[in-house]
Amino acid sequence: MPPREAHASAPGKIILLGEHAVVYGEPSLSLALDRRIRVDAGAGGPRATVNGEPLHAHRHAYIHQALERGWNGAPLQLHTESELPSASGVGSSAALSVATNAVLLRLHSDTPPAPPAIARAAFETELVTQGAASPNDTSVSTAGGVVLLSPSPRPGAELLWTIERDGRAWHVQRLPPLDLPLVVGNSGSRSHTADQVAKVRRFADRSAFARDLLRQIGQLTNDGVDALADGDLRRLGQLMNRNQDCLHTLGVDTPVLERLVLAARRVPGTYGAKLTGAGGGGSMIALSERPDDVVAALERLGAHAFRVRSSGRGVEVGP
Ligand code: PMV
Repeated sequence: MPPREAHASAPGKIILLGEHAVVYGEPSLSLALDRRIRVDAGAGGPRATVNGEPLHAHRHAYIHQALERGWNGAPLQLHTESELPSASGVGSSAALSVATNAVLLRLHSDTPPAPPAIARAAFETELVTQGAASPNDTSVSTAGGVVLLSPSPRPGAELLWTIERDGRAWHVQRLPPLDLPLVVGNSGSRSHTADQVAKVRRFADRSAFARDLLRQIGQLTNDGVDALADGDLRRLGQLMNRNQDCLHTLGVDTPVLERLVLAARRVPGTYGAKLTGAGGGGSMIALSERPDDVVAALERLGAHAFRVRSSGRGVEVGP
């Protein structure tokens, strides 16, 4: 018998290299974070609620979309708890999509859902809600750890699952765990992924230069995977800086993010810094031997800055 109540939690993520380009089938390299979203759900009551309020198609867009596609049972009462700032480029919407779909799949079945099924359902939720998306964030949040998405499987890396859509294939692969000294600086302005993805699409549709920038980002990501395998943080930092240049030229940087990136790079011991996620607001990341000094430098500029650790914990479903 499927359970009457279920819960799931899923981590946020940061993209080290490859955002936006991954939408066009280029590789991306990401880490799941040690901050999570938890969703509890149980059937009962006259109508669906989220945290005690009636379900709202816009305010609860990701949950609404997940229910539209993945639920036809009695109205659900859902509760969410988040350690992730929303609309900040650290993957809160992906974590919410993953945890919600995991709960729905669990409520439908006698046994816990398999991660590939959760990743696929969560990708559909993001895609429909945002209008355009890659399966990066939802796959990283499902898998946990260090994850490479790539158009062709990388030899030696464990293949977790493949997601195909519109003639593209993203191979989701696990890379060895690693503990990078990383800082996130949240600019305080919200980032709207759908708007930024649409902006890059308009540029890419009419400009060979933009398409070339996206390919360059893909190459930087592949080089970054090699740097990571060699434990070469200096090289990885340089690649992050070059990725930032490409994102800036693509038009998804903001003056505030740029100021934070430059401030982080000025701290001795910093290898590299770039925006992370969709841009247009949201967050930047820095790779630095002196993360506490970077946090202080970013906070002096008014950012909300914090050290992050990668986590090997992906989605977890109960009961
Ligand atoms: O800002 P976030 O955390 O939603 O990251 C978006 C990453 C993009 O590559 C810009 C979009 C995508 O779906 O991959």
